[in-house]
Amino acid sequence: MANVILVGAQWGDEGKGKIIDVLTETSEIVVRTQGGNNAGHTVFIGRDKYVLHLIPSGILRPNKVCVIGNGVVLDPVGLVGELDGLARLGIPVTPANFQISETAHIVFPWHRQLDGARETRKGKDKIGTTKRGIGPAYGDKAARVGMRMIDLINRERFPAKLRERLAENNEVIQALGGTALDYDQLLAEYTAAGDRLRPFVKNTVLFLHEASQRGANILFEGAQGTFLDIDHGTYPYVTSSNTTSGGACTGSGVPPNRMDKVVGVLKAYTTRVGEGPLPTENAVISDLLHGMGREFGATTGRARRCGWFDAVATRHAAMVNGIDELAITNIDGLDTVADIQVCVAYRVDGQLLRHLPSDSEVLARCEPVYEHFPGWSTPTDAITQFSDLPVNCRHYLLSIAQLTGARLTIASVGPAREQTMFL
Ligand code: GDP
Ligand code: IMO
Ligand code: MG
Repeated sequence: MANVILVGAQWGDEGKGKIIDVLTETSEIVVRTQGGNNAGHTVFIGRDKYVLHLIPSGILRPNKVCVIGNGVVLDPVGLVGELDGLARLGIPVTPANFQISETAHIVFPWHRQLDGARETRKGKDKIGTTKRGIGPAYGDKAARVGMRMIDLINRERFPAKLRERLAENNEVIQALGGTALDYDQLLAEYTAAGDRLRPFVKNTVLFLHEASQRGANILFEGAQGTFLDIDHGTYPYVTSSNTTSGGACTGSGVPPNRMDKVVGVLKAYTTRVGEGPLPTENAVISDLLHGMGREFGATTGRARRCGWFDAVATRHAAMVNGIDELAITNIDGLDTVADIQVCVAYRVDGQLLRHLPSDSEVLARCEPVYEHFPGWSTPTDAITQFSDLPVNCRHYLLSIAQLTGARLTIASVGPAREQTMFL
């Protein structure tokens, strides 16, 4: 029996959705605790591909309860669309298997507009956000002017609150050169979404507490990745939530002393979508992976930037998340690479750094110091036992786990459930 926090240990898109799906088999409850529909978590069941943005990936397995926790910022219209999409695919979502925290904050169209407008004004210094309004929505939450699910589903309270918030935000939008939003249209759209979502809205803090008390296995589904964390990431090129393990506690109401284990998900190489420093970025590996049709974003379709495995970064991730176990995915992506490089230190301003600098401008100037590993030049995607992997592959995986400083327990050689090995 264990409560497990799963986090991305790089820059997001590590394959969390796939690993969540695999781990959900032995969990009762899966909880999203931060982020919003900036996330895109891919799960394959047979040949069918599912991309989840807000609903926990556990929803694809029968008899599991999925929860959107208080720490999430939620676009209600987007969520209704996601529910409809799952219904079309024959996945049942009912109040028996899906709950939304009544204190989750709401994303409004003005948040998306402000997100876009700020990016445009930043020009070449833009963050490269998903333009889902995540930053402005968390901004309102911190400024104590946000609206929550509990407000949305309250038909008496919502219209006046909406009018008041819209008035202020329309002023800002217009000052930035945008077009004011229409109150009546927004009220109709959001009231309809609120009506659809009302049956799912619960006190999820109590639900999770009671489940935890009776020994239920709860899996906390991290979104984004460690270096997109608002505190520990490459600020300002980050998202606006705590993507590290602590976010699972604040974003769910389940306290730290109820958590049993932290699993970090890593790719066997590195990717990042959006702007910001990526010391090991490499055109050859980017071209190789894009040429295979891989590494295009699940939310925005943007090509992900790719590079070698950065052990300086993942070691930092192990530290700030308290990672106990590692799941390494996309091992098959390196099947054809003869000489694999791993960053073990940075060189900057004549100094050798073995830790991640806090200043993104310094990180952007860091030159990686590489260790070389011989490749395995063999397809791994059909291998089902860790001991059957080529010896160079096992050596590589155990080495990057050791450099990261946590125990390797899962190795993934393809997007499907069956392409998963347990150590
Ligand atoms: P997430 O955001 O962390 O859930 O990751 P994404 O779903 O955005 O991106 C990960 C991509 O890698 C998806 O297309 C997955 O289907 C895919 N994937 C996950 N594990 C593996 C693997 O071991 N091998 C291959 N080839 N693809 C994988
Ligand atoms: P999953 O859960 C990868 C990135 C954006 C941008 C930065 C800020 O699928 O791993 P935001 O829209 O959050 O304000 O954008 O964060 N980003 C992600 N990158 N995977 C994600 O989620 C991401 N969610 C946000 O590209 O650089
Ligand atoms: Mg993703």
